[in-house]
Amino acid sequence: MSKLLVTGGAGFIGSNFVHHVIAHSDHDVVVLDKLTYAGDRATLEGLPEDRVQLVVGDIADPEAVDPLVAETDAVVHFAAESHNDNSLSDPSPFVQTNLIGTFTLLEAARRHGTRFHHISTDEVYGDLELDDPAKFTPETPYNPSSPYSSTKAGSDLLVRAWVRSFGLEATISNCSNNYGPRQHVEKFIPRQITNVIDGVRPRLYGAGENVRDWIHADDHSSAVLRILERGRIGETYLIGADGERNNLEVVQAILRLMGQEADAFDHVKDRAGHDLRYAIDATKLREELGWEPAYTDFEAGLAATIEWYREHESWWRPQKAAAEAKYAAAGH
Ligand code: NAD
Ligand code: DAU
Repeated sequence: MSKLLVTGGAGFIGSNFVHHVIAHSDHDVVVLDKLTYAGDRATLEGLPEDRVQLVVGDIADPEAVDPLVAETDAVVHFAAESHNDNSLSDPSPFVQTNLIGTFTLLEAARRHGTRFHHISTDEVYGDLELDDPAKFTPETPYNPSSPYSSTKAGSDLLVRAWVRSFGLEATISNCSNNYGPRQHVEKFIPRQITNVIDGVRPRLYGAGENVRDWIHADDHSSAVLRILERGRIGETYLIGADGERNNLEVVQAILRLMGQEADAFDHVKDRAGHDLRYAIDATKLREELGWEPAYTDFEAGLAATIEWYREHESWWRPQKAAAEAKYAAAGH
């Protein structure tokens, strides 16, 4: 393998993966990204031009996709509409990109016999009770809740069918909540960090008891590269780093690290259908592929992330007003 087609490589996790690949492997990268509101060519700044090329285009456009897949050794498919709240106000682009876009890529990979790795989410499994000791495993039945997670679940099933019916050489990974630099300010952690920078109180949906299983985006990237290079074809790997915390704990950690009072936040309207808890059992990835996360101290990773947003206001400032306008319209 030497040339990777990375879809969605100008977004949060896709761009982290491109930086990771350039630093830790000898693969070259072609990024295919539509540069939606969530994509930004600035996320790829500083990368060597002889190893990374950005093509602006839509994964649901067969004419854009086919020649790129034809000339690459593997597709690593990150591109998606990724935000649950947006999927509740308008599901349409989620169906188009997450389902039709994935289908379009799969058909091109089938035509050209190209290795395929599909990036997905733990949200396809639905949610767990707060007091349930269970975690998601690759055997957990699919039970998605939102338009976002149901389109991701549908895309996973398309990949599985292309493996079984057409012999596509594909793997799938389902990861828990990522944090780190270059995450869009619509998402929970960067929204609260940039609110505090702006002198605005963080916003907690409902009581703040919902639990997410946080992993640093660099650890997601190292796991994806490991699966791409050593994973067994047709297999699903769950990616997580044992980072369960409820949202109240995360907001209070942000407030503490940013020198604010512990109660300097507001409770706002809850998300419709809000999943209670996600938790990943990554035993298969750890034992079969020998993967380990590098970021095991969440507070240290969070402090570094806060520092990144303090130092890169010019990167996130253009996103902030539009993201907050969407939240104001939705009552969050
Ligand atoms: P993001 O919203 O930050 O980035 C998505 C990228 O995809 C953007 O650059 C956007 O321009 C691009 N894109 C969107 N529609 C496109 C289209 N039709 N054609 C080409 N490019 C298009 O998302 P993210 O948080 O980086 O998530 C990346 C992937 O990881 C997604 O598949 C998501 O489901 C998955 N995932 C995310 C998380 C998380 O915590 N953020 C966790 C697990 C899995
Ligand atoms: O679990 C993986 C998923 O994690 C990914 O598939 C998604 O792409 C990614 O967006 C993320 O989904 P969540 O819905 O969990 O992430 P979000 O950042 O939107 O919210 C995290 C939690 O914080 C969730 O319980 C809702 C809550 N929240 C969110 C916002 C934006 C708040 O309490 N206040 C907020 O202002």
